[in-house]
Amino acid sequence: MVYLRPTMTAPVPAELALDRRTALPEDYTFLLMDHPRPTWEGHPNNGQWCQFWLARHNMFREFGEGLTDACKKLLAGEVEPKGFHEWFMTRVSFFLGELDTHHKIEEYHYFPLLTRSDARIGKGVDLLESDHHIIHELLRGAYDTIVALDGAIQEKPNEVMGLVPRMHDDLAALDVGLQRHLNDEEDLIVPLILERSEADLGMA
Ligand SMILES: [Fe+2]
Ligand SMILES: [Fe+2]
Repeated sequence: MVYLRPTMTAPVPAELALDRRTALPEDYTFLLMDHPRPTWEGHPNNGQWCQFWLARHNMFREFGEGLTDACKKLLAGEVEPKGFHEWFMTRVSFFLGELDTHHKIEEYHYFPLLTRSDARIGKGVDLLESDHHIIHELLRGAYDTIVALDGAIQEKPNEVMGLVPRMHDDLAALDVGLQRHLNDEEDLIVPLILERSEADLGMA
């Protein structure tokens, strides 16, 4: 369910790496001043693709928070390992698989489309692709822990609680990076869609 990602991305300034930046510079978000977040909902150019894409991002935000929270509850003894296992495993597998697919679709289809449509977004797209690589590494780490936790719950119950803090930390690190990435990706891409329309960009 987790794929190798062979593509290379252009280098981005070190201070703008996913784990270091706190916001995007204005020259990256060149249309955000004209199309700030409060104007997005109901904008005539906020079409079906954009609404679906933003809904997927919100789903990823909810999964990231919910799964981390579930680990906290298990650690606090608020849920039983067996009940946790049933609830957690299907959701975390779905989350990681869908996130990986989402990134691939962006990288292979929508990022090149956007860069061809407006060269000014090129360095922002390079940044987003570099984010994807960092998130992918976090995702692989979390996946390895999930496999270990799954095996422990089924066969070595006395090792479960020793693995849960690692699972929590892996998911929390993934969640922090993902939230930053989703916010910045939206600030880069949505204003361009609102400025030009999905049809004009070839997204409709
Ligand atoms: Fe992305
Ligand atoms: Fe995305």
